[in-house]
Amino acid sequence: MKNIAVLVSGGGTNLQALIDAEKRGETGNGKITCVISSKEDAYALERAKNNGIKTIVLKRKDYLDVASYSKAMAETLKAENADLVVYAGFMTILDEQVCNAFPYKMINVHPALIPSFCGKGFYGLHVHEAALAKGVKLSGATVHFVTEECDGGPIILQKAVEVKNGDTPETLQKRIMEEAEWKILPYAVKLFCDDKIEIRNGLAVVSE
Ligand code: GAR
Repeated sequence: MKNIAVLVSGGGTNLQALIDAEKRGETGNGKITCVISSKEDAYALERAKNNGIKTIVLKRKDYLDVASYSKAMAETLKAENADLVVYAGFMTILDEQVCNAFPYKMINVHPALIPSFCGKGFYGLHVHEAALAKGVKLSGATVHFVTEECDGGPIILQKAVEVKNGDTPETLQKRIMEEAEWKILPYAVKLFCDDKIEIRNGLAVVSE
């Protein structure tokens, strides 16, 4: 079995989707073994506790800078014997110390179709505000490997979602979560845990 560590900062609906998928036997050879939060009041921690999953709080403000926080995170993940690290609404920047310790073993869900509306400053509702300001008719979600480049790692899965007239950032966020994120994130975890993702020439190739 592969140990899955999930990094969270907020409500944790993507974590919940992973927990529910595991209960249905849909995470393949993977098991969520710990949830690490950058915030002590993240509701995601309650979701983990309600399901008997170990929780760890690593508060960003307890560390002087990104480097010392990243070092602590890398050490924690190693101590937890993580085989896969999933960023599920994790809103804190980590540096190369973590990527180097877990090369192509960390995946992130982003609420847009990368390379649109991604990179520094594009997180949470800001992503949907930008999509609506541009007037795109399709947005969606992307699951990708985490590398040093923010939102720039190899893309594993994407799913498009319609933007509707009258959408607000909140209604678009909800539709993208329901129709895309909560589906492709657990599926990408299953693919990883069943060794169905390969890196070839810097791109992720999925064999289903
Ligand atoms: C999700 O929409 C996730 O894609 C996004 O934050 C939300 C977290 O919700 N992540 C990012 O914007 C990261 N760049 P959740 O805590 O309910 O899963």
